[in-house]
Amino acid sequence: MKRLGLIVGSGELPWTLDWTQAGSADTEFGAASMAPEVAALANIELVRIRRHGEPHRFAPHAINYRANLSALANMSVDAIIALNTVGGITPEATTGALLLPDQLIDYTWGRRQSFCADDAVRHIDFSNPYDCGLQMSLKSAADNCGIAVVEGGVMAVTQGPRLETAAEVRRLARDGCAVVGMTGMPEAALARELDIPFAAICLVVNPAAGVAGAETVDMQSLQEVARAGMHTVSELLLAFVERGV
Ligand code: HPA
Repeated sequence: MKRLGLIVGSGELPWTLDWTQAGSADTEFGAASMAPEVAALANIELVRIRRHGEPHRFAPHAINYRANLSALANMSVDAIIALNTVGGITPEATTGALLLPDQLIDYTWGRRQSFCADDAVRHIDFSNPYDCGLQMSLKSAADNCGIAVVEGGVMAVTQGPRLETAAEVRRLARDGCAVVGMTGMPEAALARELDIPFAAICLVVNPAAGVAGAETVDMQSLQEVARAGMHTVSELLLAFVERGV
């Protein structure tokens, strides 16, 4: 792999890499959240987009996912890893845990889900939304450097920007979801349309609404956990890249 696309969410990666702007935020699908930035890491080039923009301003439902994916494709990335901060639903999805989802359920609405024009039908196979090889490489990288990750699990993708009600989270649990976030779709489907291998790393930053008896979700602690957890995510990414995928 020569170029790895990284979609960074709410948590900031603590790297001090030499990022330079490359490519353009303007795409045939409108403006991406920002122009991609490139930095060298080990033997590859990282191409980063912050999905909420820089400064952080696009809410999950207001992100131009098609433009973001298109901007990364225009940079000829060989694969994409998306970082998602999420609420934990199942007992293993504890606050601070990393989870590599192998499935998702899309509860979003009104987002542009496809690059196809409205009068051009194209169906993609999406039985397995994440690239198995990429996910396995992430898992082995984590094992090699002693980072605990939960392997597999269903990510619920909700519309946001509000968090869920406790009843909604009970429904997600009944549906078999392990974690819940707001930005996992349509990113994964758009990457599949582009035929770019795609995987996600979920960082659990809070128990989802009503989980573990939580009365409310504490926004400040959510941000603190995101900040701390991104150190582990960056170690995992470094190990992944150094393995020479
Ligand atoms: N729900 C949805 N998205 C989230 C959450 C949550 O509890 N935490 C972080 N992103």
